[in-house]
Amino acid sequence: MNPSFPSIDHEKLKALISAREPEKWALIPLLQSIQEAFGYIPPSAVMPVAEHLKIFPSEVQGVIEFYAGFSMKPKGKHVFKVCCGTACHVKGSRSILNAITKELGIGAGETSPDYSASLETVACLGACFLAPTLMADKEYYGRLSPNRISAIVDHVKGAKEEDKS
Ligand code: FES
Repeated sequence: MNPSFPSIDHEKLKALISAREPEKWALIPLLQSIQEAFGYIPPSAVMPVAEHLKIFPSEVQGVIEFYAGFSMKPKGKHVFKVCCGTACHVKGSRSILNAITKELGIGAGETSPDYSASLETVACLGACFLAPTLMADKEYYGRLSPNRISAIVDHVKGAKEEDKS
């Protein structure tokens, strides 16, 4: 269940593009700034980026597809990553994934229709000693049990709302 793409601020996109040198070497930094600004690389960015840098759109597309850090799919405001690596698997990551799937109402690899959350699975979060672990936005949560998931989701969503006020 992935929603249709949200509309983006085209003026912001234009400003990001024109702020970069019109040189091929600027491709990766430019894609990074677009990804940071929008949370993903909007497909509509490919052509103007290629034109600005005087390269083929297929080159832009190729770089986006090559690097795992770039995504052409919009993500939710909050990104939950459940570790399914060996250490976490042994310690019950499956039950954590089931609990968060139920809590968010979306499966792994999906984004909620209102773009409030995305759920992903990862191979290792680099915190195996805390297994089973998950990462919500930039924070780690470890030694999890399914009954903690609801409070964590509320905290992550609530904390970000408070930040805005
Ligand atoms: S396997 Fe889960 S953090 Fe390493």
